[in-house]
Amino acid sequence: MKNNIIAKIVLGGLLVSGIHGFAQKTTLEVNIDKTVTKIKPTMFGLFFEDINFAADGGLYAEMVKNRSFEFDKPLMGWDQPNTKRSSLNKQSGVATPIKELKNKTNTNFCRILINDPQGYAIINEGFRGMGVKKDAKYNLSLKAANHDGAIKKIIIQFIDKDKNVIGETNIVPTSDEWKNYSAQFVATQTEAKAKLKITFEGTGTIDLDMISVFPEDTWKNRKNGLRKDIVQLLYDMKPGFLRFPGGCIVEGRTLADRYQWKNSVGNVEDRKTMMNRWNVEFPSKQTPDYFQSFGLGFYEYFQLSEDIGATPLPILSCGMACQYNTGELAPIAELDPYVQDALDLIEFANGGVDTPWGKVRSDMGHPKPFNLKLIGVGNEQWGPDYIERYKVFEKAIKSKYPNITIVSGSGPSPDGEFFDYGMQELKKLNAELVDEHYYKSPQWFRENATRYDNYDRKGPKIFAGEYAAQSGSSGPNPRNKNNWECAFSEAAFMTGLERNAEVVNLCSYAPLMAHEEAWQWAPDMLWFNNLQVIGTANYYVQKLFSANKGTDLLTITKDGKALTGQNNLYASAVKDMNTKEVIVKLVNTATTAQEVTIDLKGSKLASKGTLITLTSPDLQDENTFTEPTKISPIESEYKLKGEKAQLSLPAYSVNILKLKME
Ligand code: AHR
Repeated sequence: MKNNIIAKIVLGGLLVSGIHGFAQKTTLEVNIDKTVTKIKPTMFGLFFEDINFAADGGLYAEMVKNRSFEFDKPLMGWDQPNTKRSSLNKQSGVATPIKELKNKTNTNFCRILINDPQGYAIINEGFRGMGVKKDAKYNLSLKAANHDGAIKKIIIQFIDKDKNVIGETNIVPTSDEWKNYSAQFVATQTEAKAKLKITFEGTGTIDLDMISVFPEDTWKNRKNGLRKDIVQLLYDMKPGFLRFPGGCIVEGRTLADRYQWKNSVGNVEDRKTMMNRWNVEFPSKQTPDYFQSFGLGFYEYFQLSEDIGATPLPILSCGMACQYNTGELAPIAELDPYVQDALDLIEFANGGVDTPWGKVRSDMGHPKPFNLKLIGVGNEQWGPDYIERYKVFEKAIKSKYPNITIVSGSGPSPDGEFFDYGMQELKKLNAELVDEHYYKSPQWFRENATRYDNYDRKGPKIFAGEYAAQSGSSGPNPRNKNNWECAFSEAAFMTGLERNAEVVNLCSYAPLMAHEEAWQWAPDMLWFNNLQVIGTANYYVQKLFSANKGTDLLTITKDGKALTGQNNLYASAVKDMNTKEVIVKLVNTATTAQEVTIDLKGSKLASKGTLITLTSPDLQDENTFTEPTKISPIESEYKLKGEKAQLSLPAYSVNILKLKME
């Protein structure tokens, strides 16, 4: 089929193509009266992983990198341009990282000796720069201990790439003990690559820690919150769930560096920074400055889920480190702390304020429960070691919290030995919801729209938890593009997810987002830099499905059969009992437009409806920072004449037809 799509021959000024390029007429039938199954509110959601600078440097709006001097190289991200290191006497000043052992969680800070205030500055480079916007307000905070009272003022400035000052504030450090200070400043210019420059008045020594700058304008105006532009795109998708914090980051390269949610809650400054596992994962895409400050931690993930109307879905380590790395195992006899983490997390999310972990949540500002219903045991583990550990978790969770649904994993691929074994064992165990991952070619996606047609309706429900069509090979391949062929192929496949909503209860594209200059894995649904975020064509496909998921699945057939690629067409249909609409999704993967007639039986429909079309002429087309909405939905009024809808579906298009039921 790929050849049919790609082969294009220009003949006599007309674009014609391979054997399926000729115009087709297809008649489809929708039975509006007959609900096949209810669509779960969770059907289409989000997979968040701290990969590609998605948390620090991305969603978490902190602009200072290594704010608490806790990176392995404690001054990474900080520059002292004027320090003359050759002679101690001539140094204008020097910053020395200090590591104290008496304070258990926040051991590091920076001691600065200033000899020549005119000559000394310490500069933070941000996350590949800092994005500042003209007239926007920025909130600075820091901790300082001005030991001998010698430092009269700390001057904090944004500087542009030519070192011009584009915003300034100052702090008078009044105490010789550690004290928190804050100040606000306004940027006088928009700059994508700003830096934070700190200078001093007076000579002597001062200790600094937790040097932090956030834009005031964050999502929901939360102090030290999340990037508003990025969350807005997530919110607009109307996601059914938010899975966090990964992905392989859950597992860790070793058990010691697995994601431990308890280290991500409580006072932000007490959350201990650690290296992000993606920092060194791929030799060709090393990001030595990738760490996790946990400023975006489990409380913030739950809060974000609530904010965007998504059911939270935390995934926890099951005592197995990433099997692509060390594959370290926690012995079954030593699994208790891992299981306890899962039980405590449920208490953190749902427990009363009088329970120990419920109190932690409440003290952080959320006395009401987060209403956790789903929990994942392991990410994409495989083999008997996983099944053995899953059983232990299942027993412990179900005996204490029988109403929590457990998500289990079927490994890293959608077929093969690991998958077959995992599925077979999980079925025997009556697993409730099994996570499947597929990073495959666009062709695979088109050819697998029928994947779930024969899944056992009485077996485990499916969470299509990580998928994305790969334009090149899977993995962190720079050739993997968010191109239009990938996006519409995913749409074709997603009609199959929707048609099988009886068995597929959740699905999410992965990974979610990537920093333009600091990514490890492509493709990704959103791309951002320090000033801008763009939705890819894949994002708009996800959004169209999610925002139009409906409440009831209907059948849509051609000659009594589902449309799964005949004439390069794919279709699914739902109705939404809240908005009283019939919603038909049609994907045309052919190189030419196709005429479609839909016989809508069983309900009277209003004559005016809406047609949303997502299309682009070239398979390689992509949204970019300069053309962010090149491929984006176009909405038009649709006029229904009689009971049959007539549509002309453009070549390579995803179409949503919405008609009101009267
Ligand atoms: O989405 C990127 C990675 O792909 C995830 O961390 C992992 O679960 C999968 O292998």
